[in-house]
Amino acid sequence: MIFDILTIFPSMFSSPLREGMIGKARERDLIQVRVHNIRDFAFDKHHMTDDRPFGGGEGMVMKPEPIVGALRAIEAGGPEARCILLTPQGRLFSQEIARGLSKLSRIVLICGRYEGVDERVAQHFTDDQISIGDYVLTGGELAAMVIVDAVARLIPGVLGNVGSALEDSFTQPVLEHPQYTRPRDFEGMGVPPVLLCGNHETIRRWRRGQALKRTSLRRPDLFAALELSAEDRQLLEEIET
Ligand code: ADE
Repeated sequence: MIFDILTIFPSMFSSPLREGMIGKARERDLIQVRVHNIRDFAFDKHHMTDDRPFGGGEGMVMKPEPIVGALRAIEAGGPEARCILLTPQGRLFSQEIARGLSKLSRIVLICGRYEGVDERVAQHFTDDQISIGDYVLTGGELAAMVIVDAVARLIPGVLGNVGSALEDSFTQPVLEHPQYTRPRDFEGMGVPPVLLCGNHETIRRWRRGQALKRTSLRRPDLFAALELSAEDRQLLEEIET
């Protein structure tokens, strides 16, 4: 999988994508992340990447020529590549979208800045527009990192433990149960005794009950969509009493 990232702040990507699982996946060549400076494709005297909006108004708009110049230089228009603009106007990113993207061989991410990107770029040179949440960032760079991270960890071999990607929250639409590790007593706070009982079935039931309870409290939207089994109902009832 190749990620091509177009940005005017390439150095923002150097450290985050060198660490942890993503760093290891790059070292092992499971993924490639190539960062391209949009300014390198701005050929006017001052290498301008933005300009004032037609029609007036606050802020600056990213010019089309440098972005499209960069897309052409990296041959982003080929059948292999999915070209995505990061913008708060995009469709909302989700685990399902990440799963879809993880099956592609090349993803091009365009990081918008300022008040936005010239609409002609969005309309004619991208396949998709994605937002990572209903809040406004100063640019698409952090959003691009979120997408690289969420997509890369779904690529076979990237995570050490394949099971952990499968069991994650949102693969199943319930939040995860609480986790504890040593020490058994941390500053007077203990661990639920059931986790120390050694009975796998008892532990599985407790975890499922906790996951359901947590989902109902924190994410009523997800909980409402769940199809609860008879056991689920029983576990919830046991927690309530
Ligand atoms: N750029 C600015 N805000 C953003 C968001 N929420 N998602 C994606 N790109 C953005």
